Amino acid sequence: MIVLHQAFLLLHLLGAMAWVGGMFFAYFCLRPSAAEVLAPPERLPLWLATLGRFLRYMSLAVVAVVATGLGMMLATGFKYAPMGWHIMFLLGLVMAVVYAYVHLGLLPRLRRHCEARAWPAAAQALNAIRRMVALNLALGVATVIAAVSAR
Ligand code: HEM
Repeated sequence: MIVLHQAFLLLHLLGAMAWVGGMFFAYFCLRPSAAEVLAPPERLPLWLATLGRFLRYMSLAVVAVVATGLGMMLATGFKYAPMGWHIMFLLGLVMAVVYAYVHLGLLPRLRRHCEARAWPAAAQALNAIRRMVALNLALGVATVIAAVSAR
């Protein structure tokens, strides 16, 4: 059982690293560089292609993080789980909802505007995605703090 728990924890941490690390890279590295180097007709399609790939990988990561987290929590029992785990569970679920909104709601909007070459509207859609990524990045850091505080 300990080996199974370790396998779950490994998957959990790999998923969380890819998710939070990917958002950090997008927000703090790609965003300022793309704004510096590319004009909207090149920059916005680059974001569409990049986010399309990232969010597809993240659909695996999000399911892995939530499923393994829930599995580990159920094995201990919700009643016996430390407060930090409950907070992690709650924040993790909010992050998953924000992720779903970006992937299923905002990304198709960005795609539609890029295909129509409506750059100001596409920039608005990208800005809405940026705000959601900032939110999830902050929630991700809070979640890791909650996880560590349970030690
Ligand atoms: C539905 C959501 C989640 C649930 C139910 C959940 C549950 C758990 C549980 C039960 C553990 C403890 C494993 C152990 O100590 O053996 C754990 C560890 C951890 N989780 Fe989560 N988690 C969730 C989401 C997240 C998210 C979104 C992140 C990061 C953004 C995250 C980061 C971590 C970290 C860093 C640890 C390791 C803590 C340590 O070993 O001290 N979790 N999680």
